[in-house]
Amino acid sequence: MDKIVINGGRKLKGKVKISGAKNSALPILFASLLTDEPCIITNVPNLADINTTIAFLNFIGKKAQLNKDTVKILPFKNYNHIAPYDLVRKMRASVLVMGPLLARLKKVDVSLPGGCAIGARPIDIHLEAFKKLGVKIKVSGGYVKMSAPNGLIGAKINFRFPSVGATENIMLAAVLAKGKTIISNAAKEPEIEDLANCLNSMGAKISGAGTKTITITGVETLKGTRHKVIPDRIEAATYLIAAAITKGDICLESVCPKHIKIIIEKLKKAGLSIKEEKDKIYVKWVKDLKPQNISTDVYPKFPTDVQAQWTALMAVTNGKSGVKENVFENRFMHIPELKRFGADLAINGRTVNIKGVKELSGAPVMVSDLRAGAALVLASLAANGESIIARIYHLDRGYEFLEKKFKQLGADIKRIK
Ligand code: UD1
Repeated sequence: MDKIVINGGRKLKGKVKISGAKNSALPILFASLLTDEPCIITNVPNLADINTTIAFLNFIGKKAQLNKDTVKILPFKNYNHIAPYDLVRKMRASVLVMGPLLARLKKVDVSLPGGCAIGARPIDIHLEAFKKLGVKIKVSGGYVKMSAPNGLIGAKINFRFPSVGATENIMLAAVLAKGKTIISNAAKEPEIEDLANCLNSMGAKISGAGTKTITITGVETLKGTRHKVIPDRIEAATYLIAAAITKGDICLESVCPKHIKIIIEKLKKAGLSIKEEKDKIYVKWVKDLKPQNISTDVYPKFPTDVQAQWTALMAVTNGKSGVKENVFENRFMHIPELKRFGADLAINGRTVNIKGVKELSGAPVMVSDLRAGAALVLASLAANGESIIARIYHLDRGYEFLEKKFKQLGADIKRIK
């Protein structure tokens, strides 16, 4: 299995282009199942999860292909209504096949996604909402078997928690339902707005995406589209923190600063110099940083997907700080690994108490999940000496051209077989 080797201690300098958002591209690619016309999706990152999704679309009955940053999806054959374990186990976002297939075929059987390294991650919110749209559900043989014999019927849905995936799944179903669907307590993440914009360009009638109430008026059919995916805000935040942790000076290109307002504010408060332009961010270390507490929450609050990277930064920031995880119940797998670099961290319930140390020293470490992996890369870039990071297939799920981008910024980083 591949590993990443980093010799830390170098200040990062230069420019880095931020890729398209994985978490936007995934539901948008699944949206192509809603039409029989061609769809062209651009600014798609070349990542393992994207390739899994493309394989999924081909399995369902499309002809989909990624070429550079563009995915072309063409109609091919009648749809298959079964999403098998082999595809679903690779990527939890596979459950997003439910919405489009229920809308098109009135039935879908999806293998249960099972547990996950960052908590139980059930799909009860998705299923409860589908029931409201007229879907009958039973679980047998490890599959959720769903059918809507009378078609999908618009309904009022109130989420107990603003789940990103459930908001997307219901939007993907309700666009072709009979009548109006109103989702209250919907997720407000930028990826939801991007999906709504894409669906509207296909002829859907969605309003309110990006707010907590989304209204969807069902239409008969949808047409093809050409859509550009928004920049990846989590990748952007990771590179901002990379500049901070290596005392660097870098420019992020093709980025959307307003999507990471909270991260920019926190980094500025910590003492970093940050200048924003329309689609660029200049970030420069100018003085020792001051510790900042964070608490993860739904958008526009501090994203859980940046919690691990922030913890790595605070681990080398002089003073005490706290990081509280409110979104997932078990997202601290990176803590024992960060301690291997010499970080002083203690988990207390949903909080990590951090005492910043002067320096970290390189160590062999292991990645448990995507963002934990990003935190280990950041710690390795800051640490003295060599670090060897194992199980990097998690990183390949979410960071496009990771070594290439960091190398371009002056890091001593390589992948070994
Ligand atoms: C998406 C993102 C992921 C991010 C997360 C939270 C994608 C592909 N992934 O994941 O990177 O970390 O949003 O911003 O976009 N929950 C339930 N029942 C459900 C659904 C969710 O209890 O039916 C819980 C989860 O266990 C978790 C919380 O709700 O504790 C948030 O989950 P959700 O917003 O659904 O995250 P995902 O869509 O899975």
